[in-house]
Amino acid sequence: VRQLMKQRRPPGFPPGPSPIPVIGNIMSLATEPHVFLKKQSEIHGQIFSLDLGGILTVVLTGYDCIRECLYNQGDVFADRPSLPLFQKMTKMGGLLNCKYGKGWIEHRKLACNSFRYFGSGQRQFERKISEECMFFVDAIDEHKGKPFNPKHLVTNAVSNITNLIIFGQRFTYDDRNFQHMIEIFSENVELAVSGWALLYNAFPCIEYVPFGKHQKLFRNAAEVYDFLLEVINGFSQGRVPHAPRHYVDAYLDELEQNKGEPGSSFSQENLIYSVGELIIAGTETTTNTLRWAMLYMTLYPDIQERVHREIDSVIENGRVPTLEDKQKMPYVEAVLHEILRFCNIVPLGIFRATSQEAKVNGYTIPKGTMVITNLYSVHMDEKYWTDPGVFSPQRFLDSNGNFVKREAFLPFSMGKRCCLGEQLARMEMFLFFTTLLQRFHLQFPPGTVPTVTPKLGMTLQPQPYSICAVRRQQKS
Ligand code: HEM
Repeated sequence: VRQLMKQRRPPGFPPGPSPIPVIGNIMSLATEPHVFLKKQSEIHGQIFSLDLGGILTVVLTGYDCIRECLYNQGDVFADRPSLPLFQKMTKMGGLLNCKYGKGWIEHRKLACNSFRYFGSGQRQFERKISEECMFFVDAIDEHKGKPFNPKHLVTNAVSNITNLIIFGQRFTYDDRNFQHMIEIFSENVELAVSGWALLYNAFPCIEYVPFGKHQKLFRNAAEVYDFLLEVINGFSQGRVPHAPRHYVDAYLDELEQNKGEPGSSFSQENLIYSVGELIIAGTETTTNTLRWAMLYMTLYPDIQERVHREIDSVIENGRVPTLEDKQKMPYVEAVLHEILRFCNIVPLGIFRATSQEAKVNGYTIPKGTMVITNLYSVHMDEKYWTDPGVFSPQRFLDSNGNFVKREAFLPFSMGKRCCLGEQLARMEMFLFFTTLLQRFHLQFPPGTVPTVTPKLGMTLQPQPYSICAVRRQQKS
């Protein structure tokens, strides 16, 4: 009876598909939820509701609606839902899943400052990314043009850029412990939206059911926590107060300064959560983007060739690409933007919640309601894109071949909780992509064409594929 009571929509709440008793609309999220939800919006409107086993949820569709909520009503839509899974994982602390309030403000500010101070604001930093790009292409070279799955190499290289900011150091590509941590952490990103996770959120008592994917999720999370604790302790050795070498040091400074302050959110536990979130948020997304980019360049040899031509004409004599080259490379920019639009790395964003009662399009949404932002629907919004289902970098170029920004482009979401790593991700994507294509021609092993159907999870990634990276004519 309690479940049935919970399922009833409150007055003024947006309409939505009829729920099945008890489990509501959970099953409808089983396959390609972003596509399913976009279709539902054609029936119920840009803003509609779902019942996820008693958890009332609002789904926002299309650029206009998402902008109205996330930007025009930024404060109202800036919270995260207090789902049992998140409560168990990070106690609604840390940074990415933190409740909207003092704790989030403190952690976001510290992370943004550290990213600037130890990252983009440092002259040396671009050189360090370039160094990692070199390790990366050298490691690819070892395959000598033979087929290989680039997933692990891309993951290791990309995560090292975040590692530089957080720990002040990279991990070598043969560091099995670090690799294992990333592997099970990204497995959790996938499991977090599995049917079992949704069930756990609706019925936390299944915690005591000894089988099921939610148990795997908990085991992985505990292992990641222990690993991070050890690594953080290691990298804080030799720390000199007020002379931070990296994010962990900067965090410990804050922790010491605020010791004894009653309302302070800085704690050993929140340090571990935020380090974990920064590592996974930075790695999973940027890695997927680059893996899609490699796949699409191979699928569209004419586009790859145009990229090669632009790289060769702007970067003379095969020198190392720099961020300064970016303005002169509108085609590469257009390709990377089209990958982000078309591949929808984070198709449903990260779940939000209302921090207070909201009024949108005449509907009333109570405080604490879970909100799903269908970012995929923004990138497929026919009001803003012609033939959105077609892969075409050209849409980001004007008739003179100059790069043009497009409004309905939200791979990093928008508003208060927008991605804090956008700038870093853009630097990485440009440098890794140009360094890779400067040196190699990408092709599929003879007789194979991989599928472009994504593997489902919080993020979309390609199914594992093999590729041949054949060295291009080397210029001295
Ligand atoms: C949040 C996308 C790279 C750190 C987000 C969100 C999206 C996103 C869609 C959700 C925002 C919302 O709630 O509406 C991406 C994409 C990336 C990328 C597509 C790469 C291509 C990175 C990097 C980092 C990072 C490199 C850091 C190393 C974060 C953090 C949040 C976040 C900490 C949570 C922000 C908050 O809750 O205040 N990202 N991201 N991301 N991202 Fe990224």
